[in-house]
Amino acid sequence: MTINVSIEKTRYAKCVAASKRVHWTIDEHVIRGRDLTLDDTFLPSSLSKVADLDFLTADEKRFMSQVQGRTYANIFGLVERFINAKILEVTTDHWLGDQDALEALVRFSNEEIKHQELFRRVEAMCADIMPAGYRFLPDPNGVAKAVLSKSTWSVLALTCFIEIFVLSHYKQAIDSDDSLSPLFKDVFMYHARDEAQHIIADELEWERVHNAMSPLAVDAAVDDFIALVGAVDDILQLQAAADVEYFCSSMNGGLYEENLARLKQGVLAAYRWQYIASGVGVPRFQEALGAKIKPQQFERISAALAPIMGSA
Ligand SMILES: [Fe+2]
Ligand SMILES: [Fe+2]
Repeated sequence: MTINVSIEKTRYAKCVAASKRVHWTIDEHVIRGRDLTLDDTFLPSSLSKVADLDFLTADEKRFMSQVQGRTYANIFGLVERFINAKILEVTTDHWLGDQDALEALVRFSNEEIKHQELFRRVEAMCADIMPAGYRFLPDPNGVAKAVLSKSTWSVLALTCFIEIFVLSHYKQAIDSDDSLSPLFKDVFMYHARDEAQHIIADELEWERVHNAMSPLAVDAAVDDFIALVGAVDDILQLQAAADVEYFCSSMNGGLYEENLARLKQGVLAAYRWQYIASGVGVPRFQEALGAKIKPQQFERISAALAPIMGSA
């Protein structure tokens, strides 16, 4: 027990050191006086899945990458609202305890507030250059209230899941794609640098909360986690429909009915890939989850996710 406590203390201290090492500011490091331009691709095709929409022209595919990239920034701004609230809440357990843990979580919270500001700036830059009519429909505060009504275990599980796939997207899809907007790429490089150390704090806090729970409470929290992933999917369905409507209204010509159906299905599949399916397969999340739940509970989650995974 003493050894575990000191290992965790060291890991929190490592989060603090990493947070100090990678510290950046929005204007000085990320934006640097630059603007986004409609000549550039925003979201890489491996995330936007535009290659599957073979009835679109090259210009239309680029515009689709911009619509999806704008939504990508807005979705992270949204999830960071509840992530930050939960992180602030769990700091209370450390106020009079491990001061490295407290500092790691306070810095984590501060960074999420900075990310929300960054994503508001990205939204404003997109609004400046893209055609009018884009709408981001989910309300960050409404979503946060619904998410925070669930158990802390499930919110930390979802947070860990999200931050792990943010890092995975950057490493697998964004960093390696030289065709992307340099500014858009930098936004997600700096974001990923913070997420890399947030994941360590997520894992530590999720485990700490888990270790204090009864098997019955964990079982109920598994249901909460399933409900939260379902709520994420509801958001994706809402925003995918809004983005297709915006995309079509911004196009010069209309789409054949058959292609409109494919577009709707393709954008929802891309969003389900980005925010759910691409994260489920990451071994780091599988290990963190698998260490806390029984095989039957794992199967319950897999069964609930199967319809989403099947159409991603
Ligand atoms: Fe973030
Ligand atoms: Fe984060």
